[in-house]
Amino acid sequence: MNELDTLADAARASFAQALTPSDLENAKALYLGKAGRITELMKGMASLSVDEKKTRGAAINLAKQAIETALTERRQALAAAELQAQLQAEALDVTLPGRQHGQGGLHPVSLTLERIENIFGSMGFDVAQGPEIETDWFNFTALNTPEDHPARSMHDTFYVEGGYLLRTHTSPMQIRYAVQHVKKHRAQLDAGQGMPEIRVIAPGRTYRVDSDATHSPMFHQCEGLWIGENVSFKDLKVVFTDFCRTFFESEDLVLRFRPSFFPFTEPSAEIDIQFQSGSLAGRWLEVAGSGQVHPNVVRNMGLDPEQFIGFAFGMGPDRLTMLRYGVNDLRLFFDGDMRFLGQFR
Ligand code: FA5
Ligand code: MG
Repeated sequence: MNELDTLADAARASFAQALTPSDLENAKALYLGKAGRITELMKGMASLSVDEKKTRGAAINLAKQAIETALTERRQALAAAELQAQLQAEALDVTLPGRQHGQGGLHPVSLTLERIENIFGSMGFDVAQGPEIETDWFNFTALNTPEDHPARSMHDTFYVEGGYLLRTHTSPMQIRYAVQHVKKHRAQLDAGQGMPEIRVIAPGRTYRVDSDATHSPMFHQCEGLWIGENVSFKDLKVVFTDFCRTFFESEDLVLRFRPSFFPFTEPSAEIDIQFQSGSLAGRWLEVAGSGQVHPNVVRNMGLDPEQFIGFAFGMGPDRLTMLRYGVNDLRLFFDGDMRFLGQFR
C-alpha cells in the first residue's frame, strides 16, 4: 500500500471516530485544511520536474477525492444519526388512546326532566322556573309552616346571610307562580269573573342536609299545582296516574295514595307506585308528596279559599330516573363519572 492510500485510510478512520459534526470538522482540517496533510503534499511538489508533477499531482488528487468522499459520507451518516435521535426523542406513543370528540348527551336526570315537561305539557301544564336561593317566606311561612313549626326540622338546609336559604323543596314555586297569575287576572277577579285555572309544573334543584344511597344534599324536585273552582283529589289521581303510566311506558303499574302530613296541604298523601312486572315488581316505591292545597296557602296566593281549591304535588325526578333505568345509588348521578353518565343517550 502506498503512502497516499495509507493517508486516505487514516483520514477515513479518523472521520469514523468523529461522533459529532464539530469533531468531524476538526478531523477534516487535519487532512484537507490549509495546514492539512494534502496541502502539505501539494506544497512538497515544488521541486519536482514537470512530468513528475503530472503523475504525482494526479495521485495526490485521487487521494484528496477519496478523503472528500469519506468526509461527505461521514457527514451524511452523522446528520442521519442526529435526525434519528431527534425523532426518537420526539416520538409519539401511538398506543395511547386518542382524544375523542364523541357526541355528547343529556344527563339522565335532564332526560327525565325533559320527559316530565313534555308529558305535563301535553296535559296543559305551564312550566315555570324559580330561584334556588329563597326567602324564608316562600320556602316556609307562606306554605303554612311558621317559624316554630316542627315540620321545619325535616328540612334542614344551608342558610345564607341576610335571611336567605337554599330552597328545601320546589313548593315555594306554588306561591310565586300563583301570585303572578293572580296579579295578571286581578281585574277580572275583582269583577267577579273568576280567572283561568292555574296549571303549572316547576322543576328544579333543591337542597337539604341529607346524604345516603337515596338522598343527596342537592337533588331535584318537580312541583305540580292545579288550582281552579272545581278541582278535586280525583283530578290529582287521574293526572298523576296518567303521568306515571306515560313516564314509565307501562300500563302495568298501580298507584297508592298513602295518608300523610304536609303543613301546606290538607288532606295530604304520599304517592307510591308499584310495578306489576319486571325486576321491581311487588315493591311500593314513594315517588311524590301531594295533597289538596291548604286554605291558608290559597289565601297567601291572593285567592279566596271559599272559591278556589286545588291540589299540589312534589315529586323526585332523581328517584324516577333511578326507577326508569334501574340505578340503585342516587349519588352516581352526581359523581360526574363519564363511564356511568355515558350510558344514557
Ligand atoms: C316535599 O318536599 C313536599 N314539598 C312535597 C309536596 C309538594 C307535598 C306539594 C304536597 C304538595 P318530601 O320531603 O317528601 O316532600 O319530598 C318529595 C320527594 O322529593 C320525595 O318523594 C323524594 O322523591 C324527593 N326527595 C326528598 N329528599 C330527597 C333527597 N335528599 N334526595 C333525593 N330526593 C329527595
Ligand atoms: Mg316524602
